[in-house]
Amino acid sequence: MRIGIYPGSFDPITIGHLDIIRRSAKQVDKLIIGVLNNSKKTPVFTSEERKKMIEEATKDIVNVSVECFDGLLVNFAKLKNANIIFRGLRAVSDFEYELQIAQLNRSLNDKVDTFFLATSVEYAYLSSSSVREIARYKGDISSMVPAEVLEMVEEKFESIYNG
Ligand code: PNS
Repeated sequence: MRIGIYPGSFDPITIGHLDIIRRSAKQVDKLIIGVLNNSKKTPVFTSEERKKMIEEATKDIVNVSVECFDGLLVNFAKLKNANIIFRGLRAVSDFEYELQIAQLNRSLNDKVDTFFLATSVEYAYLSSSSVREIARYKGDISSMVPAEVLEMVEEKFESIYNG
């Protein structure tokens, strides 16, 4: 059984993430989306909200499940018997950071390998932080987040910035 993990902050999930999820899910029997709880960054959405949004956006993909995790990714991978970590690469700047993390993770647990997927070009410019910025100023994010989560994202920003 090939079990993969696609970890991230997903604050919020974008269609770029969804593209990586669909493609990663085809490579394994089971794909677990790992939503990081204890991020250094303070997220806009709680981990439960992020989990719910990913579940909504991925409900048609049969071999995908979503879980929140704390602590080290390699420990979460071990707990889940996963041996592949998937990460998407948008640009060379992503690669520098990701390579270092992948090597660190491998030094911590050599049973887990990191597989990199090249982001589809149409999503190369997308990031959760730009979605947050645009949503904050009421810009149109409908082509950036999965349709299933658009309302949740807009409502959250409405409640934060307009009470
Ligand atoms: O979506 P992000 O914020 O780029 O995802 C980063 C993530 C969650 C993959 C990374 O921060 C992570 O794995 N954090 C857990 C702590 C850990 O294992 N760090 C790696 C060793 S320094």
